[in-house]
Amino acid sequence: MKLKITLLPGDGIGPEVMGQAARVLRTVADASGHDFIFDEQLVGGAAIRETGDPLPRATLDSCLAADAVLLGAVGSPEFDALAPSERPEAGLLTLRRALGGYANLRPIVCFDSVACHSPLRQELVAGADILFVRELLGGLYFGEPRGRADDGDSPSAYNTMRYTEAEVERVARVAFEAASGRRRKVTSVDKANVLETSQLWRETVTRVAGDYREVKLEHMYVDACAMHLMQAPRHFDVLLTENLFGDILSDEAAVIAGSLGLLASATVGGSVDLYEPVHGSAPGLAGLDCANPLGAILSAAMLLRHTAGLETEALVVEEAVRAVLEAGHRTPDLIGSGGAGLRAATTSTMGALVAESFAGIADSLHAYHAV
Ligand code: IPM
Ligand code: MG
Repeated sequence: MKLKITLLPGDGIGPEVMGQAARVLRTVADASGHDFIFDEQLVGGAAIRETGDPLPRATLDSCLAADAVLLGAVGSPEFDALAPSERPEAGLLTLRRALGGYANLRPIVCFDSVACHSPLRQELVAGADILFVRELLGGLYFGEPRGRADDGDSPSAYNTMRYTEAEVERVARVAFEAASGRRRKVTSVDKANVLETSQLWRETVTRVAGDYREVKLEHMYVDACAMHLMQAPRHFDVLLTENLFGDILSDEAAVIAGSLGLLASATVGGSVDLYEPVHGSAPGLAGLDCANPLGAILSAAMLLRHTAGLETEALVVEEAVRAVLEAGHRTPDLIGSGGAGLRAATTSTMGALVAESFAGIADSLHAYHAV
């Protein structure tokens, strides 16, 4: 198989975690005989510095011509004073819209070996396995009109939360399809006691549920959901949210997994799939070789599964990550709370360990198939 992958390292810790994700993908290619062709391009603050534009034409063209895009992170305090449309984040938002993926999948899995690192009680988080399906192209992020009105006595600013029925329906279908292959439960998040968009959201999701009789649907207000996530994370299977609610709740849910650095995401439904860890650019950690690359590596595993259809390779990468954690290797985000038998690892060591573990598991699989 030949796969064209555009790599967008971006800002802050982005290039470091991306380096390790690419290393693991190269190991997968070597072990399985597939041909992955990488094209590295600028995005975000790094692109503004070079070209003045957070999403240069060359980057967009490369992404549109690729089979998949893998992004590190965007954002840098250097650009904090700029208007939203000129900031590094605007590059990512424009890219998301151009690629067209409207369903952002964010799995929150609490690995047994890291359950002790969650600030929540271990018996609460152990075994939690949630899939966020976050709507990614609508709501406050893209709604018009938006802007600032500075002409009155008191300057004002406004954003619009707008959803069409069709936008809700297509992402709801992704959630129900995903739930059908899991524990068959969808929790749809809204604020239908206050917002019209949420009322439309709830009506539409309820109607779509009629096509998936085997899946149980529950509705939950976003404020209550924020609490229940911390109180009873194992209650949830698939969590369906609009754009901003999903942004907020998925960072909160990182507490269940033990670290934001572990979370991966895939954006599907458009012309080119986009993969990115959930964490941001963490400028304070940049260049220190201490960021957790596992979110980026697990995003690469999602790429193998969803875009390449290489389910076995994806499972083996996930298994390799699990094995490295079980062996006690930890980047500082996870080692903070301590624990017996833990071994401090840098970003690059962690990537090397996962690649090595992948190659080991792949070898034994080959040996197994050979007999
Ligand atoms: C995320 C990030 C982005 C978002 C930012 C960087 C624009 O927080 O992917 O969760 O808000 O969608
Ligand atoms: Mg976010």
